[in-house]
Amino acid sequence: MRTPIIAGNWKLNNTVGEAVTLTTELKQLVADASGVEIVVAPPFTALAAVSATIAGSNVCLSAQDVYWEERGAFTGEVSPTLLKDVGCEYVIVGHSERRQYFGETNEGVNRKAKAALAQGLKPIICVGELLEEREAGRTEAVIATQVAAGIADLSTSDLLSSVIAYEPVWAIGTGRTATPAQAQEVHSLIRSLVALASSDDVAGQIRIQYGGSVKPDNAAALLTKPDVDGALVGGASLDAASFAAIVKAAN
Ligand code: PGA
Repeated sequence: MRTPIIAGNWKLNNTVGEAVTLTTELKQLVADASGVEIVVAPPFTALAAVSATIAGSNVCLSAQDVYWEERGAFTGEVSPTLLKDVGCEYVIVGHSERRQYFGETNEGVNRKAKAALAQGLKPIICVGELLEEREAGRTEAVIATQVAAGIADLSTSDLLSSVIAYEPVWAIGTGRTATPAQAQEVHSLIRSLVALASSDDVAGQIRIQYGGSVKPDNAAALLTKPDVDGALVGGASLDAASFAAIVKAAN
């Protein structure tokens, strides 16, 4: 029912030249992949070049962040319309690095998601607990708060255009992946939170990605879990062969 979605979050990596090389290689490696949505999220500076490189292919474009205002005196920010203009279909909002290093709040994440949706851009809304929160037995409470706030006031069609990414912060860039069982447990919680906020039907359709040290050798085990509908991949998305192997695992 739910088409898996594999997204590569390049973070602060790749010049325009490097981005074009990586995307050109990736596009060839995944040309035959079907039944899976493939997304790359380069830094802002490489969006236009990557957009041109993937034109006509089965790879689509995401930005890593967006601002909620459409225009005006907001130095350094980029609006949903500017992202659409350059060819983005998706945008990541609320990544834990933005929450940790740039003071992003649950309310801000929700404003960004709503602004993106209003312009026809699909948000990938990230949630995840810190290690100390997990160890203190607070995972469920943290996820419940982040999900409820992140999707607040989204209509049914907004929710169906959204993706939720569960990324335990302790698993990001650490090589320490959540076990498939740990991922499934939180994914099923997230799905029930969406049902509570909306309906069983929407909850059954919304896609929930897992992120945090997803690699070619652990992707298949995670992706076979019933509520894991894809992956948000950081480090391994910087290598075309690794990312393509993860796409194949979802295929
Ligand atoms: P990682 O990053 O795959 O390098 O752990 C995932 C993410 O932050 O989206």
